[in-house]
Amino acid sequence: APATDVLIRRPLPPELLARGTDPFAPPPGLDALRAQGPVAGVRLRNGANLWMVTGFAESKALLTDERFSADTHRHPNAMQLDPEQVVRHQAAVAAGTGGCPVTDVPPTGGRFIFMDPPEHTRLRRLLVGQFTVRRMRALEARVREIAVEHVEAMRAAGAPADLVTDFALPLPSLVICELLGVAPADRDGFQDRTAVLVNLDADEETRLRAYAEQDEFMRGLVADKRAHPADDLISGLVHGDADPALSDRELVDISSMLLGAGHETTANMLALGTFALLEHPDQLAALRAEPELIDTAVEELLRYLSVVHTGPVRVAVQDVELGGVTVRAGDTVMVSLPEVDRDPGRWPEPDRLDLRRTRNHHLAFGHGVHQCLGQQLARVELRIGLAELLARLPGLRLAVPPAEVGLRTEMVIYGVHSLPVAWD
Ligand code: HEM
Repeated sequence: APATDVLIRRPLPPELLARGTDPFAPPPGLDALRAQGPVAGVRLRNGANLWMVTGFAESKALLTDERFSADTHRHPNAMQLDPEQVVRHQAAVAAGTGGCPVTDVPPTGGRFIFMDPPEHTRLRRLLVGQFTVRRMRALEARVREIAVEHVEAMRAAGAPADLVTDFALPLPSLVICELLGVAPADRDGFQDRTAVLVNLDADEETRLRAYAEQDEFMRGLVADKRAHPADDLISGLVHGDADPALSDRELVDISSMLLGAGHETTANMLALGTFALLEHPDQLAALRAEPELIDTAVEELLRYLSVVHTGPVRVAVQDVELGGVTVRAGDTVMVSLPEVDRDPGRWPEPDRLDLRRTRNHHLAFGHGVHQCLGQQLARVELRIGLAELLARLPGLRLAVPPAEVGLRTEMVIYGVHSLPVAWD
């Protein structure tokens, strides 16, 4: 299934998505759920039910419990689809043509974010072997080059600029191309198709077409790496010592998944993180005065913003007691990372952005066997990206009133649609 899998629409009721007056705080509706208990029942817009976990300890327990499965595809009800979509999906499965219930794309084999051990373990281990210290170090140098290039282009063009299109989106997207070994000439097409795939507003037909094109492109890429290995992740997987060897289908899926998982997340952290700094001038001043704060600053921004605001999601494979409720086999459970990462039982003053905060073990990258594979790379992008931005754009400020910044409440990954900025 395509990268859009990671972005499946979940019909949460509006009050669990709408932010209050503070664009960085979780929706007040989620705070109200927390008041009911660490695990609370929610009725979705399509009439299905869901358990929402807002407690830190309960989330860690859930994400390390083998009685919960990440394979929500095998449980279409767990995806909170419209009942009609479920019927369509079940008919397709019966006819042997069923795939992803959202897109009806044929079933695929490498998207391990939706797999459980031991299948998950096999693929994850192969990937971990590709995120080598040497490769990450080389990538770090490229991250800096790309960041500098984009900030300098903004300066050359002059204020105002949209930080999202001019900086926050291209940085992670070019870094992923670098990691996967996509040739410079192919980048534009690759990025255009990605933009469609991550856009939930794109209609089904457009998305399917972009998916088919991207799939074909990835197949070509894998074939090319087979014939001409280079020093990149796909070549490393193709020519590694996987036993049994990875199939082309698996290689294509793994690459598409890396693309989807590593793209919008980092981009939204960069843009929303900058917005948060601009709205907390004392914190921004501290970071400008003491650039060595960047490491704790990035951890605190990850916690404070927790941009993955609709997941992780799991489905119970048997009855489980969790946080004072009985989750029945087949029930869907969603972790609310923005709530979990502000659990008052866990952090003093959780609603305060404090870039000096230490012992800040948050769940913004998830927890357990599916904990984010790209987290070290994401940290490098955030540290270098924010540092270059602040160092090269003195007087960075919003170019519109804060209330006019468009928030991505309706998207799977929270953030801003655009961030108009100016500088001195
Ligand atoms: C998994 C967050 C950047 C690749 C996850 C999960 C979260 C997450 C919460 C767990 C999902 C679950 O348990 O169901 C983030 C955030 C990022 C980020 C907040 C940026 C700030 C990246 C990057 C890459 C990446 C840059 C790739 C280079 C992955 C992969 C998984 C994953 C492959 C699935 C791991 C597995 O199933 O074993 N991420 N991510 N992520 N992430 Fe990230």
